[in-house]
Parts: sequence; structure tokens; C-alpha cells
Amino acid sequence: MKTVNNTVDTPFYCYSMEIMVKRYRALREALKSQRATIYYAVKANPNLAVIKTFANEGSGADVVSIGELHRCLAAGIPTNKIVFAGVGKTRAEIAEALSVGIYQLNVESEPELQVINEIAMSLGVKANIGLRVNPDVDAKTHAKITTGLKENKFGVDLIRAPSIFKIAKSLENISLKSLSVHIGSQLLDLEPYRAAYTKVAEMTLHLRSLGFQIDHLDLGGGIGIPYQGEISPDLNSFSDIIQGTVGDLECELSFEPGRYLVGESGILVTRVIYVKKGRGKKFIIVDGAMNDLIRPTLYDGHHDIVPVQQFDQDTKPYLCDVVGPICESGDYLAQNRMLPKLEENDLLAVKSVGAYGAAMSSTYNSRPLIPEILINGDSFSVIRRRQTVQENMGLETIPKWLIDE
Ligand code: LLP
Repeated sequence: MKTVNNTVDTPFYCYSMEIMVKRYRALREALKSQRATIYYAVKANPNLAVIKTFANEGSGADVVSIGELHRCLAAGIPTNKIVFAGVGKTRAEIAEALSVGIYQLNVESEPELQVINEIAMSLGVKANIGLRVNPDVDAKTHAKITTGLKENKFGVDLIRAPSIFKIAKSLENISLKSLSVHIGSQLLDLEPYRAAYTKVAEMTLHLRSLGFQIDHLDLGGGIGIPYQGEISPDLNSFSDIIQGTVGDLECELSFEPGRYLVGESGILVTRVIYVKKGRGKKFIIVDGAMNDLIRPTLYDGHHDIVPVQQFDQDTKPYLCDVVGPICESGDYLAQNRMLPKLEENDLLAVKSVGAYGAAMSSTYNSRPLIPEILINGDSFSVIRRRQTVQENMGLETIPKWLIDE
């Protein structure tokens, strides 16, 4: 394989551009009978080269912070293809989003609506708004990534939509003609989508009957991927659900997939430092850790792990925990897995980490951020180099009074 810049040491993330593009095109194809735009949910993997990959495919972007907005602008997503979501947009963020002229802000509360109106007025613009509603539908996913239940902080209770539309109508600098819904992430069952979209469709008709105009529905993200052999949702069935619920409303549709587009494109490559015998199992101590990939310990996320080099099929597998060097028992990439005999310096690939892997990494234990690599055909490029320890310390200063003692 040709390297475009340099060689890379472990641990590192490695993504296949081909898989990302394939997933994007498959979804676009499945949605082609709808008037639909795909807005890549940048939070899943905000690397500039990843965003650029989708920009080149004509994708829009769903952002949740000014940082993500700037990444999209830097990667060439047109401003009129950016949607800004999130429960806690600050005044500064709203002002910046309105100044650059993004397509839509999804509003999640009445106070936010008032603030957007105020800021839009001061800027002399009309803000295009979508109202994020909470349909109280169980997405049947992990509790930490379900968002459409009434006890979750997201959106406004669906039944309050008419009163908020009424308020919005009285606000001069607000244009509210869109409903938005996102019930959670890693959905493998499509029925919760049907339930949520049905409620949104009913509310759309109700709002129209009250004289409000609705011409756009943002139907969120959340399509799941197989992490341990599950069956991934069938995109044609997804399309049928959309057609059967909101298809007759003549609305433009938006989708905000993240994980589906990038999850399976990525692996984390990590090196065995030591193999330690435990009681009844082995601890494979590797150079990747929970700061690099938090999903296993935060969500009990399962990621298949395979040795990079081919092993003799007859090699007897051992019960193992794959753990990192961090000083916490929660620092594992996998627990109770059967793996072949491994030795120091063997490489392991942790699979399906393209979404919410690098994106959620930290520098805990002062471990610098690790490289990301993008493979394109038979060449690869380092799309994020390893942070240095100096850079990691670089934001900090020791106050003078501590030095001048
Ligand atoms: N739209 C909204 C409003 C969202 O909150 C999210 C994800 C998405 C779209 C994209 O969802 P996706 O298609 O990627 O499922 N860190 C967790 C996932 C958190 C998802 C947060 N919101 C994980 O590692 O599983």
C-alpha cells in the first residue's frame, strides 16, 4: 500500500473512504423516490476529510456546535446545506449560525425561540426554524442514546407544538414551517420510526388545519449498524415506512444519519504490550485505551476484535479481556472474548469504530490524541496526525505566583 504522507505507529484509527461513499449512495438510492436531502451528522466523525468525503457526494451536514459548523465550512459543505441542532445553543452560537446563513436551526424550547428571534432581529434577518418535537416513542436502544421519550431532555412535547407555532407566528424574525424529530441512535428495529413518523404526520395535518404552513420535515438519524452480527435495518423497508407515514404530505424531507454512514468504515488498530495471566482468563494489555474508544465502557458497546495477522485456524482460542494502560477497571475495549494466542507486538483491529470512536476520544491520563488514516483504493493518507505531548500541555500556563516563590 502506498502512503501519501508518512508511516504511522499504533494506536490509530483507520477508515475506508469506499465504505463511507457506498453507504451514502445506498441511502440516497433508497430515498430517491422521496424529496429528501441527507445531512451527515458530523458528531459521528468530525474529521475534515470525512466531512469532505460527504461534501463531495453532495451531502449536507447536521451540526450541534460552532466547532462543527466551522469544520463543515472548512470542508466545503455549502452554508445552505447546514442544519444546526441541539438543546443548548448559546447566543454566540446562534448569532454566528445566522450570520453565515445556514439553512435551518432546529429549536428545542420556547426560550430558545425567543432568543433566536431577538438575535435575528438585531442582525436584520429572518431565521428559518424547525421545531424539534418529542413524540414519546421508545426507540428500543441503549438508555443513554434514546432521545424520543418524554423523560428525555430533547424537543418539545408534541402536543405543545400548536401553541409554539402560534408564538412563532407572532415573532417577526422567525419563519417556522418545519417539524423535526429524532428518537435515538443505533435503531435496529424500524417500528419506532413508524410510530414517531406517524405522530409527526398527524401533527402536521393538525397544524395545517389550524392554518399553519408546514413544508419541511426533518426525520432525524439513528439507523443502526450490526456490531455483533445483528441484522441491519433494510433501507427499502425504511423508505416504505417514510412513504407510508409522511409520503402524502408533500413536504421536503431531511435525514441526519451519522453512524450508518461511517460506523462500519472504521477500525482501531492497537498493539499488544503485554499478555498477563489472570484467574481463568488472560488480560491482553494493548496500547489503545478507553480514552481512545469510550464506547465499550460507556455504553457496554460491543466491537468485534480480530488479530491483524492471519492465525492458524487450529490455534486454540483463550478467554481474554482486551484492556488498555489506563488506571481504571473500566478501561477495556472488550471483556470475555475468545481470542487466539497473542504475543507482545501483535496487532489487533477493533471493528466498526468509525462512528463515535475518534469523535469521543479524550486525552485522559495525558495520552495524546491518536492518528486517523483514510484509505482510498490502494493509497492512504494521515488525516489527523498524532498530537504531541507538548501540544497536549500547550494550552496550560503556570501562574506567575507559583513560579516566583
Ligand atoms: N440527529 C440528532 C438530533 C442526533 O442527536 C443524532 C445523534 C443524530 C442525528 C445522528 O444519530 P446516528 O445516525 O449517528 O445514530 N455516542 C453515542 C451515540 C450518540 C448519538 C447522539 N445523537 C454512541 O457512541 O453510540
